[in-house]
Amino acid sequence: MRREKTNGKATEKPFVIAVDGPAAAGKGTLARMLAKKLGYRHLDSGKLYRSVAQNAEQVWKLKIPQQTQQIAKEIEENLRITDEYLEQIYRDEELREEKVAISASRIAPQKIVREALAKQQVAYIYSSAQGIVLDGRDMGTVICPEAPCKIFLTASPEVRAKRRYKEMLEQEIPDQEIPDQEIPDQEIPDQEIPDQDALNQETLDQNKLASYDATLRDMRARDARDLSRTQAPLRKADDAMKIDSSNYTIDQMLSEALDYANSRGATAHVQHTQEPSIMTDDTLKIDSSYHTVPLAFSKALDYAK
Ligand code: DC
Repeated sequence: MRREKTNGKATEKPFVIAVDGPAAAGKGTLARMLAKKLGYRHLDSGKLYRSVAQNAEQVWKLKIPQQTQQIAKEIEENLRITDEYLEQIYRDEELREEKVAISASRIAPQKIVREALAKQQVAYIYSSAQGIVLDGRDMGTVICPEAPCKIFLTASPEVRAKRRYKEMLEQEIPDQEIPDQEIPDQEIPDQEIPDQDALNQETLDQNKLASYDATLRDMRARDARDLSRTQAPLRKADDAMKIDSSNYTIDQMLSEALDYANSRGATAHVQHTQEPSIMTDDTLKIDSSYHTVPLAFSKALDYAK
């Protein structure tokens, strides 16, 4: 939290950490973990675009991108970013689906939609003195260029495609049939392209699985769109620190980002609103910030057995 003097009056501003970068670079994981470590709020702007796209199609019954004006009007009149709203969209499994990502990517280049969402994002950022971690494509360049700590997180297209592909495999695994050891380990990126045969398990319906090659092609196409669009193209802010997560474990990525945030003046926000829960010596600890839901479930199931 920083204190600033305005006309002799002390006002408290939140400490802002802006994390930008291409799809599947690990921004979501890093932003969530930074927020948790520091006790900050977390604004995942990708989820906002996804939620707007979903609302446009399902609730407001508007076409993307043909009815952009009306979508922007709905945002101005009906969308207010609050802690409760964010909790709700972070829990919404449907927003993670590829079809929603595609709708979001068609609405994201629209100037008036971005402007309407920008107003809401800035209002939320400054609605509290509690620090905040922003996660997106234009956080350090457009939404909060004054952020004292900016991180541009990237990784090679191959590594990002592999992570996305593994996530898709995990989503395809039916709840009751999670195999014992074969679930790909999402948190340790390595350079190898996955072997299709090794992943060819009986419990997986191969027809439903996207191939790694197609995922890599999509990733490159998405990068090209993000980089070349006229509205808020993806770019590293001049004063952002670049972290390449290609060869990092999550812990290494978090440690480098935390060191940098501390060097920029971030301090943990301490707020005890409830008694911390006590973990007994014989309790298995699963930190779900490292895992997707099926992977956390699989670990709990293995332990229960
Ligand atoms: O990070 P994501 O896949 O959840 O983002 C969904 C879409 O929204 C993607 O097409 C990028 C876009 N987006 C954006 O243009 N600006 C942001 N700040 C966040 C996401």
